[in-house]
Amino acid sequence: MPNLFDPFTLRGISFSNRAAVSPMCQYSSEEGFANDWHLVHLGSRAVGGAGLVFTEATAVLPEGRISPQDLGIWSDRHIEMLSRITRFIHGQGSIAGMQLAHAGRKASTYRPWEGHGVVPELKGGWRKVVAPSPLPFAEGYAVPEPLTEEGIREVVKGFADAARRALDAGFSVVEIHAAHGYLLHEFLSPFSNRRQDQYGGSFENRTRIVREVVTAVRSVWLERLPLFVRISATDWAPGGWDVEQSIALARELKPLGVDLFDCSSGGNLPDAKIPVAPGYQVPFAERIRKESGMPTGAVGLITSPEQANGIIQNGQADLVLLAREFLRDPYWPLHAAPKLGHVIPWPVQYLRAAPEGTPARVPVDLQKLKRISAKRMVGKEEKRKKSVLDRAVHDMMTRLRWIIAVCRLYLAKNLFRQW
Ligand SMILES: Cc1cc2nc3c(=O)[nH]c(=O)nc-3n(C[C@H](O)[C@H](O)[C@H](O)COP(=O)(O)O)c2cc1C
Repeated sequence: MPNLFDPFTLRGISFSNRAAVSPMCQYSSEEGFANDWHLVHLGSRAVGGAGLVFTEATAVLPEGRISPQDLGIWSDRHIEMLSRITRFIHGQGSIAGMQLAHAGRKASTYRPWEGHGVVPELKGGWRKVVAPSPLPFAEGYAVPEPLTEEGIREVVKGFADAARRALDAGFSVVEIHAAHGYLLHEFLSPFSNRRQDQYGGSFENRTRIVREVVTAVRSVWLERLPLFVRISATDWAPGGWDVEQSIALARELKPLGVDLFDCSSGGNLPDAKIPVAPGYQVPFAERIRKESGMPTGAVGLITSPEQANGIIQNGQADLVLLAREFLRDPYWPLHAAPKLGHVIPWPVQYLRAAPEGTPARVPVDLQKLKRISAKRMVGKEEKRKKSVLDRAVHDMMTRLRWIIAVCRLYLAKNLFRQW
């Protein structure tokens, strides 16, 4: 079994280790734009040696922000600053990932340090808060507008357009946020989805929008790049979304091109009783991995190097995502590696402070990545040309067969007349 500091490869991307920075809202944007805060915050964790650095939940549509200060990617104008951030992260040998999100009925709320519940329009909030059904999350939250089928199509397109922009900004992984009581989780859970149409009721119907988003994102996201989905493996309440349905969903999403299930939990019920304890969500990652064959990520109260390493070594997950521990210590991997007896590269500028024999960081080889994708594109183009040629030959042969058949009929008729 591998350990925490062994590389991990998905499609054409190789992560230098299996410790990832979990997505964490910073509530520090204006109009969705990334800024110096995001560069320094995400950049520091790349300097700290994380194998993968995720942005916070990044809104695919402006009304899909949790707070007015959320990061966004609904406009091409967002790309430039994000490109600067991905260049820096890749320059540190880490992989840059973006979490794509829509907040659904939890949208237009205050950032945590400013208040609770709905932000009025005068303070930058908005009225268009949407969800599968008109059920507010809790007291003080908006009564959401149920999405029409056209509205659902706009959301699906929003995710695909955002993925195309993430690609242009240089991200190497995208994660679709279908957890924590936000829009896609709201469709999955019978507690928030009371629809009577093809998006509500049965498991197939409740999961339809997730399959559509995955398919739309995969159609623009390069084949060589991994696609993750974050789910809440359970609502922690009988009658809600649960681990069995999560396993079934993982089995359905694998053939659609999802490469890893990032297994979190809860967030759709304000009063769910959650047995929070160290590693309490790891069993979900383990079961989903074993029963669906989908690689998984474990997250939630994972703090010590030994604990994180044990999860990988015991085959409970393929990746460990840490959130608050990375806020406490941006250099967590640099500190964890020697405790586990590993030597990992440090930024060349810091080598004088590193343990004896530490090698210098090597940036992610972006040119190699581009060459792989160019080859794949050429391959795809050749396949496309071949199929166009095949179709033309097939059409010509069909026409020829028709002409021969008509000629035969004509000859037969004339011969018959003569006799
Ligand atoms: C400040 C903060 C912001 C968060 N924002 C997000 C987010 O944008 N997307 C997400 O999926 N989870 C978010 N989370 C949840 C974390 O990614 C993680 O799942 C959770 O904190 C449990 O991991 P931990 O015990 O290592 O902190 C956030 C957590 C924190 C502490």
